[in-house]
Amino acid sequence: MRHDHLITSKQLTREDIETILDRAAEIDADPSAVADRHTNTLLGLLFFEPSTRTKMSFETAMKRLGGDVVDMGSVESSSVKKGETLADTVRVIEGYTDALVLRHPKQGSATMASEFVDVPLVNAGDGAGHHPSQTMLDLYTIRENAGLDDLTIGIMGDLKYGRTVHSLAHALTNFDVQQHFISPESLRLPREVVYDLHQEDGGAGIREHESLEEVLASLDVLYVTRIQRERFPDEQEYQKVAGEYQIGSETLEAAGDDLTIMHPLPRVDEIAPEIDETDHAAYFEQAHNGVPVRMALLDLLLSDDEAADRRGGEA
Ligand code: CP
Repeated sequence: MRHDHLITSKQLTREDIETILDRAAEIDADPSAVADRHTNTLLGLLFFEPSTRTKMSFETAMKRLGGDVVDMGSVESSSVKKGETLADTVRVIEGYTDALVLRHPKQGSATMASEFVDVPLVNAGDGAGHHPSQTMLDLYTIRENAGLDDLTIGIMGDLKYGRTVHSLAHALTNFDVQQHFISPESLRLPREVVYDLHQEDGGAGIREHESLEEVLASLDVLYVTRIQRERFPDEQEYQKVAGEYQIGSETLEAAGDDLTIMHPLPRVDEIAPEIDETDHAAYFEQAHNGVPVRMALLDLLLSDDEAADRRGGEA
């Protein structure tokens, strides 16, 4: 895999994805084998939006590879509060670190920031745009539970603002997958995303629905997402769709025994706690997969020859 930055899943070929997932599987099987692989390597964390999983799993990943992290901290305690631009912030922090992870509320911010830095930059979520490292751990989890070819997946919830959905849907067009998108009318996939998916997939594997019942029995995987209150410009619009599409034991009566349920988390009320102890639930396993997958991503980005040159030669 030769990429300077990871901004969107659209930049990755099937071969790239398989390289990342295979490397993650090797690391998962024997993490101690890479415990000293990136000593003296510092990862810069720039989170302009809240995060638990992405931030902590990147930190864990870097430390488990022998490196360390420096964290910009909250926006409130940084010079962003004084009006510093994102371009200036990333240019300064790249001078302290060997790679950057950026989460920002503005769609397109990671692309813009990557134009100002030479160290590898990973987009950890840009508004309603993309979240490609989440997609890699999602694909890893799907591959482990259901396989990535001859797969039927339902992707449900906030498809309009859901960056995990946009990234995952693009990545899945590299595989033999039927994708069913389930949402209220007001939270359908953006038309430009549907257009792109049709371009990539030929349209054969893409269907949109308002009702889970229409497709539940045919699904191998159900990927549930939170309705993201914080992305709605209007609270009344949020209230119209809040609480729709909740999954409980009754919902699953029509599901196949082997259905795998995933969620990028955090959840609010989309999946009832009673599902957690069933064989369907894969969302905590999915979150835990963030560590080996992000270890693999960092290893591949930091082992690139140019990245090694920037750090003084060690690969
Ligand atoms: N899935 C995910 O991105 O979670 P966080 O917002 O906690 O990082």
